[in-house]
Amino acid sequence: MSEITPALRVEGLWRSYQRGSETVHALADFDLEVMPGEMVGIVGRSGSGKTTFLNQAGCLDRPTRGTVTIAGVDVTELPEEELVGFRRDHIGFIFQLFYLLPTLTVAENVGLPLLFARAESADRVREVCAQVGLEDKLGVLPGNLDGGDMQRVAIARALVNRPELLLADEPTGRLERASRDAVLEIFESLRTDGLAIIMATHDLEQAAHCERVIELRDGRLASPKEDIHLPAGNHAPV
Ligand SMILES: Nc1ncnc2c1ncn2[C@@H]1O[C@H](COP(=O)(O)OP(=O)(O)OP(=O)(O)O)[C@@H](O)[C@H]1O
Ligand SMILES: [Mg+2]
Repeated sequence: MSEITPALRVEGLWRSYQRGSETVHALADFDLEVMPGEMVGIVGRSGSGKTTFLNQAGCLDRPTRGTVTIAGVDVTELPEEELVGFRRDHIGFIFQLFYLLPTLTVAENVGLPLLFARAESADRVREVCAQVGLEDKLGVLPGNLDGGDMQRVAIARALVNRPELLLADEPTGRLERASRDAVLEIFESLRTDGLAIIMATHDLEQAAHCERVIELRDGRLASPKEDIHLPAGNHAPV
């Protein structure tokens, strides 16, 4: 057994919804372990459970059954008050739609999570903005940025509290090709620095940048299949 603590381990994860008299299993007996410095891609058609999984991994939603362990802490039963702080300190989120506050500058958007952590630091904001290539745009309002830069702001904001785990739900879905490549380059350098990254995407070309790609099908881990065309060795089952 490895002595390094996984950034994320989920075991026997189920998330079921009641739809009338029918029970829908958005996730069914799903297991995954992601180590620090690993980037895992999650693919699967619409409705296969990618967002549901990221929401469980990010403690935004609770599983119907199973356990979620983040950086060695079993968070499955943590009370909501503790979960809020845990999420803020250990997990970064990036979404397709950026979710920036339009009246705050780049620096203020990025610094927002620090306010909640009571550790506001202009130095940290500058540092993390530089890490994603925003050093010249600290005072700019989001409305004056292109989509690629907006996503850089969202990435910097997700990183500002130094999380161990970065969860990205279709992070490049709204971006032009050059911006998509830039986001993936940032991810790659974060991964090299030891961050664990999980990226859900429809785009197999994007997924091919991950060391490991898993496919969800109806909430379950699909076995490797021929219609995923990824470079050899990239599509390993967990
Ligand atoms: N709040 C909810 N109530 C009921 N069913 C839900 C809820 N959230 C998700 N589902 C169902 O769970 C399944 C998985 O949805 P999910 O959003 O995780 O898929 P996805 O892979 O992220 O899809 P997409 O690629 O479109 O983003 C779907 O059948 C969806 O309808
Ligand atoms: Mg989704």
